[in-house]
Amino acid sequence: MTSLKNKARQDERDARVLKLYEQVLEIEQRLIPTGLHVFGQAPESGELQALLEVVASFDRFDPDPHAGAADSGPTVRALTGLIARGLGFESYQTLIERSGVSESGAVDRQHVESLLGRAIELFLSTPDNHGATAASEFLFAQAAVPLNESFAAFNLLNRIRAQLGKNSELDALAAALRGEYIVPGPGADIIQNPDVLPTGRNTHAVNPYLIPSPIAVQRAAGIAEALLHRFLSDEGRYPETMAMVLWGIDNIKTQGEAVAQALHLLGVKPRRDSLNRATGVEVIPLEFLGRPRIDVVMTVSGIFRDLFGSTMTLLDTAVRTVAELNEPDDMNFVKRHVLEQVRGGTGLDDATARVFSNAAGNYGTNVNFMVLDSQWQTGSELGDLFVTRKCFAYGRGRDAAQSRAMMENCLSRVELTYQNIDSSEIGVTDVDHYFEYLGGVSRAVEQRAGSRPSIYLSDSTNAYARVRTLEETIRLETRTKTLNPKWYEGALKHGFSGVAEIEHHVTNTFGWSATADAVDNWIYDEVAETFVLDQAMLERLKGLNLDSTRSMVGRLLEAAGRGIWDADEKTLERLRGAFEDIEDRIEGVVA
Ligand code: BEZ
Ligand code: MG
Repeated sequence: MTSLKNKARQDERDARVLKLYEQVLEIEQRLIPTGLHVFGQAPESGELQALLEVVASFDRFDPDPHAGAADSGPTVRALTGLIARGLGFESYQTLIERSGVSESGAVDRQHVESLLGRAIELFLSTPDNHGATAASEFLFAQAAVPLNESFAAFNLLNRIRAQLGKNSELDALAAALRGEYIVPGPGADIIQNPDVLPTGRNTHAVNPYLIPSPIAVQRAAGIAEALLHRFLSDEGRYPETMAMVLWGIDNIKTQGEAVAQALHLLGVKPRRDSLNRATGVEVIPLEFLGRPRIDVVMTVSGIFRDLFGSTMTLLDTAVRTVAELNEPDDMNFVKRHVLEQVRGGTGLDDATARVFSNAAGNYGTNVNFMVLDSQWQTGSELGDLFVTRKCFAYGRGRDAAQSRAMMENCLSRVELTYQNIDSSEIGVTDVDHYFEYLGGVSRAVEQRAGSRPSIYLSDSTNAYARVRTLEETIRLETRTKTLNPKWYEGALKHGFSGVAEIEHHVTNTFGWSATADAVDNWIYDEVAETFVLDQAMLERLKGLNLDSTRSMVGRLLEAAGRGIWDADEKTLERLRGAFEDIEDRIEGVVA
């Protein structure tokens, strides 16, 4: 008996250690920007190794994502997958899955990753452009990776390295000012699409009729299912209604991954016409879907609205199509809710409105400005403002009409709110837009549904997308950025703007408290300790940028004053002292 109990205890301990190990690995492997981009300057070579490791862990498809279907296979395969298969494993993905639950899985995964790291080191350190050959031969010897396959990957890395080494941004700017032609290039980040290099080109967007691309459709299905799976395992059931945020720039970068996610959640795929334009939808039968169709309320940015008119019509068509399917309403939540409304006397057009944005010509939710200027008393004011700004319905024949009652009706049923993150450069605490949108809609739901929704983000910054709760995402961002010396020292190298950058992170973190109560107390404790209670750091910040330092200390005091942060009295006294001292300096009372 005792030995059985001991065994159970040991197993539990091992499982916890593995889980902790996974979390440490997640923090360690996350790419973070270590400093700001300086216009006209090539990035430092120090971060190249980490960047190339991530680039090399994605399968790359045809450079023109619309030219062929995604199932024609990648033209450059991910090195992680090649190494895993060369070593006799099924795939790198299965190693990642095993690594969270078994020690041997963790060891195998680490072996693959360390071979990748060593190969890229060799690639970077071998002189005279022989890096690709040396690294391919290394992987052949160590992991039986076919030379032609790894060579294709290293050729891509070679091109990226060469293009990153040059920078023609200033020349292009000067040419633009002279009214000369600037060569166009796509907009994305390097990991999503290496064809964005070289920089200094005239960034163009997309042809909205080609959105979502076949690759986006393929990737989106996995992410959307992972999202539902996470909710199912947290709550024990599927969400009937969810609210999703759609942004324009993200959908340019990913060729419409978030659009494809919305379609997949509804249980449809884009249907292309004879000109390859995604103008209709094809219903995925319930037998294939294997789950109910989710009712998706889409809150769309003004930029998305301007760029993707035809896509909004596509999304609206998807909702109308699903609402009219002849299916049981416990497998089709769109139909269930539309019928309920129609029975209550609402017209079919109103009952199927799901795509909401600003009034024509208007942008943003203004929730961020209200938070930044401390112009709010209760969270409900923030939720109300979100609805006021975003309650205009789009789609076939809707004419951007103000539809507040329709939007409020939809939000009153929402159980899950969601947004996709697709770039390691911009996360939930880097800019105020994530909290104005995802936070704003979550607050609006909380008031109207009577309880706070589950808030999730998916992270497709890696080859294997993950879904996290908002709280988990904020912890990860805080540990890897705001409180990470690598990140803040990188920012502080830029002096004045570096301090502003740190202050923005603190304020954006606060924005998540204001809109979604999603910030742990320890985060405020450690921000105060790192940037204010550490006298040497405080003096450094004040010397570089007094105004931003004042804003940051003021924001911490505001968090305590509003009851968001439970700080001890001694800490508060020191913060107040620091704030008064800064005010005196700004007012010139002391030098
Ligand atoms: C967008 O790409 O749609 C977007 C960008 C920044 C803030 C809000 C929306
Ligand atoms: Mg902005």
